Parts: sequence; C-alpha cells; structure tokens
Amino acid sequence: MHLTKEAFGDDFAWGVSTAAYQIEGAHQHDGKGLSIWDVFVQKRNKIFQNHKGDIACDFYNRYIEDLHLMHRMHIKNYRFSISWSRILPNGTGEVNQKGIDFYNRLIDLSLELGIVPWVTLYHWDLPQALELRGGWINREVKDWFGDYVGICVKHFGDRVKNWMVLNEPTVFTAAGYFFGVHAPGKRGLDSFLAAAHHASLAQAYGGRIIKSLQQDSWVGTTFSCSHVEPFSNRDKDIVAAKKADVLLNRLFIEPLLGLGYPTMEIKSLKRIERYMQQHDEADLRFDMDFIGLQNYTREVIRYAMFVPYLQAKIVSAKDRKVPMTAMNWEIYPESIYHVLKKFSAYQNIPPLIITENGAAFPDQVLDGEVDDPKRLGYLQDALQQVHKAQQEGVLVKGYFVWTFLDNFEWAEGYFPRFGLVHVDFQSQKRTIKSSGRWYANFLA
Ligand code: BGC
Repeated sequence: MHLTKEAFGDDFAWGVSTAAYQIEGAHQHDGKGLSIWDVFVQKRNKIFQNHKGDIACDFYNRYIEDLHLMHRMHIKNYRFSISWSRILPNGTGEVNQKGIDFYNRLIDLSLELGIVPWVTLYHWDLPQALELRGGWINREVKDWFGDYVGICVKHFGDRVKNWMVLNEPTVFTAAGYFFGVHAPGKRGLDSFLAAAHHASLAQAYGGRIIKSLQQDSWVGTTFSCSHVEPFSNRDKDIVAAKKADVLLNRLFIEPLLGLGYPTMEIKSLKRIERYMQQHDEADLRFDMDFIGLQNYTREVIRYAMFVPYLQAKIVSAKDRKVPMTAMNWEIYPESIYHVLKKFSAYQNIPPLIITENGAAFPDQVLDGEVDDPKRLGYLQDALQQVHKAQQEGVLVKGYFVWTFLDNFEWAEGYFPRFGLVHVDFQSQKRTIKSSGRWYANFLA
C-alpha cells in the first residue's frame, strides 16, 4: 500500500529529532560549562576509536545553514535538546546569557522558517559540576533540575510550547550508572537504583514546573521501548522475557501513571524502595499531555542462570542471523506497532508520539550522492506499522525521524550514521541522502 502523510490525519506532527551533545560541538564556547559527556570522552577506550563530541556537526556555528536545509526538506517540527551546562555552566546558580542567546536564535529562526520547536530538557548531558556532587545519585538533583527547567521555561516558554522533560531515562541510568558504558561511567545496582528513582522524581517534577509556569504548554517525556519476545515457549524463557520487559519498557512509565514501580517480576528491583521517602509515591505521578516513544528494534530474551539480578539475557540479532542495522540491531518493523499497542493499553494514557525512530547503515558518498535504500525501506516499513496501529485506534499524534544529521553516536562515536543528511566530519559538508529526499517528498 502506498502511504501518504495525509493518511495520518491533519494534526499529525512530522519531524526530525536531534540532541545537543550529539550535534552542537562548541563544547567550551561562549561560557559553556563542561558536561559529563565532555569529561567521559576524554577517558581512554570508552568510545569507539576515542572519538569525541567536541566539534560533532558544529551545529552551534552552522545552525542557520542547517535550519534552512530542514526548511527546504519541508520538515515542520524540530525536536532538539538544550544543553544544561550551556545555560548553567555550574549546573546551578549563574545563568550564562550567551547560552540563552544561542537557543533564542535557534528558536527564533525555526519559527521564522515555519518549523515548530520541540524541546527536550535533558538528553544525557548533566553538568559535570553536578556530577562532582553525586549527579543523578544525589537526591538534590531533583531540585537542581527543577531550577534549570524553570529557567528554560521563563526564557523560551513565550515561543516554545512543546516540551519533553527527559530523554530515555532507562538508557541514561542503565548505561551511565549500572553498566558504566555511558557517562558518567558508574557501575552497580545501587547507583543505578538511586539514579533511576531520582530521574523518576525529576521526570514528574519537571512536568509540574513547566505546567505551573506556562499554562498553554504541551508537556511530555520520552521513553525508549522495544517489543520483547521470549526465545522459546519454555517457562524459563517466558519469565526471563517478562523481567526484561520491566526494565526495557515499564520501569519509568508506570510510576509516572501512578502505578508505582513494577517490582513484582524482579526481586532486586524492590531495593529501589531504599531511596524512597514519604510522599515520593505520589510525587512520581504526573499527568503528561503526551508520551514520547522511541523505538528501534525488538529484543528476544532467554533465561540465563549466570546473569546477576535478572537471570535473563538478550539473544543478539547476530546469533539469530536476522537482518541488522550498523548498530547490530534487528530490523523488525512490527516492533513499533507492538509498542504503540502496548503503551496505548495503559489506562489514562495520553496521546503517543513517536519521538525517535530510525536506523544506522554504512552510507557512502559516491559522485556527490548518498544512496541509502535500506534506511528508506526501514522508515517506510515503520510508517506502515504506525499507520496500522493508528487504524486500530491507537492515539498516535506524531512521528520524528532519528535523526536529521549523521552525528556523534555516544559510545559508538561517529561510526554509525543515522542521518537523513550525510555529514562529512572533516569538511562538515552536508549531503541529503536518498532517504532524506524521500522524506522531503513525502512531507511536501
Ligand atoms: C537516543 C539517541 C541515540 C539513538 C540511537 C536513542 O537511544 O535518544 O540519542 O542516538 O537512540 O542510538
């Protein structure tokens, strides 16, 4: 079936997503303070080939050209994040006017070009000054975050209506505080549980602050999510898959909806209660205006006796010999349909928006062109699945491609290319890929 954008409805938001650390560069310009990512990338052997985001796509200096390119591609919604340490170099206290000025220019030009800004307040780049005080492990982070959110709303809320409080709390707490593979590189169950609880508190608190300061705001937050399946019908695999589902899909949405933490399936998760104080259960709850879902793949899970806490592990796409992206993630278009159905089944769930979906492939420039049929197919297949969910009654109100430009892909450095637009990181030349041209035509 040939899909048109009209098939999704008039009020469906089509866009692209990016994140500050992955594209901005200018990591020490105009008074910006260091973030945990600026520090983490300095460590040896943490990032693929020791790549760094110091320059990235140099978006800080090239945003004018990039926004014009977006405009020419008929992209009408732009999700980007604000770098906390550009606004507050020390995380709290004095505001850096030059940081405010940058986002003012970015927002103003977007609006001038008819592009609606969608702002993520936290996409993983905690100010290093706050990390030195414990970061997400310190309960005070909730108040530091709240002050920062308030400053952003006061400065930008006259023009920004759509806010997302956090980007994928599961990923930044698990990768950053349990596995130590993302900044700040901490490990262990207790640091993870403390960070997770404080992120959960901050997620609801941030929402409350935005609403209290800006009545016409449309407030959401975003979650990573994957369709989870057991490797076999054996009871042990089914139990293992349920545990993985808790971590991959349920841990942050359920307290937000007032359902509390899903501690039934995983005993060690109950330890999160150590970090809870009186009233926290109620404070974890907030009625968002929308929920952002970010989906890339599905996960197949099997029982694994020696995996601590979980006794479960992912059976990789490689081992299953299924088609994969450059991230070694399975290409499985139905996943996005299943997660939409799953999240829409919660009672009182607000409208859903796909705030990220996309794929990395090894693109190359040949005669000035980048032909990326695999990405194009990936996106088209995903849209079919989103449409199918919508036809079955799921309230899904938008779709944002991850991502606009090839960029700094965290621990994988510049190796995986996710962009609709190719970036030559030596010359900073941008080349629209064939997937980008397709998306532009689709949106035109
Ligand atoms: C994150 C992005 C990341 C993308 C691809 C999401 O987890 O929000 O920052 O680049 O997935 O890995």
